[in-house]
Amino acid sequence: MRIFQWIFPISLAVFLGVVVTAQQGPGGTTDTLNQPPCALPGAPAMTTVATDTTGPTTPSADKAYLKDVMNYMMMPAAAGVWNAVATVTDQTGVHEFRPQTEDDWNRVIAAAVELAETPNVAMMAGRKRCVGGEIPAAFRADFARKAREITEAANIALIAAKKHDADALAEAGERIDVACDECHERYQLLDDDPDNNNNKVWGTWKPKPGSKAAKPAVPPKAAAPAPAKTN
Ligand code: HEC
Repeated sequence: MRIFQWIFPISLAVFLGVVVTAQQGPGGTTDTLNQPPCALPGAPAMTTVATDTTGPTTPSADKAYLKDVMNYMMMPAAAGVWNAVATVTDQTGVHEFRPQTEDDWNRVIAAAVELAETPNVAMMAGRKRCVGGEIPAAFRADFARKAREITEAANIALIAAKKHDADALAEAGERIDVACDECHERYQLLDDDPDNNNNKVWGTWKPKPGSKAAKPAVPPKAAAPAPAKTN
């Protein structure tokens, strides 16, 4: 079986002359800063403007859709962690890329801090998906648990970067990648899901007429409520 696993990378290496085995996030590209924003109208204005005595009327004032948080914050932050460590194979051999200078490491630290904090932004009350609207109440604990996993993994990347430990950084990168996928499998709706993934949590979204992403006949079971945490 192992041989088969190597046939594809090797033939690709021959074909392209070079193989980059840096980890890549969802979608196979790490440049999402040039993506168009969610086409839906932006968040409505808050009812009452904050004053020194009243403060804001709502604890959070979300302006971006989750899609925009993902493209403009989550992916660039993750890319800063993933791309710091790479193994490139070409005709001249295998080249390991690691952060070299103090500046290099500081950039990884900055990316890891951003990645650790972005899930907090994603979890804010009222945050809407571009496709599917808000995460339904029954799933919010599960969604928050999946978001928190990114924070925990990014924190390990942060500690590794502070210690200048490239191997630990790569390991944290793998854990981050798995955590991205786990949430997307459940909560990222696509207008025309080719996999017709019935486990998705639909929220307010209805598939377009003729869409292959048929709504499941039985709604997915809500995750068991997470035990109360005090952190
Ligand atoms: C807690 C859940 C969750 C986690 C964790 C998560 N995502 Fe997402 N992501 C979503 C959801 C939901 C969408 C769909 C957004 C929408 O429709 O507005 C999405 C969409 C995306 C998109 C596509 C945006 C588009 O143009 O439609 C990218 C890119 C993305 N995520 C990157 C990442 C990366 C990289 C990570 C990990 C570092 C990650 N996400 C972790 C929930 C998550």
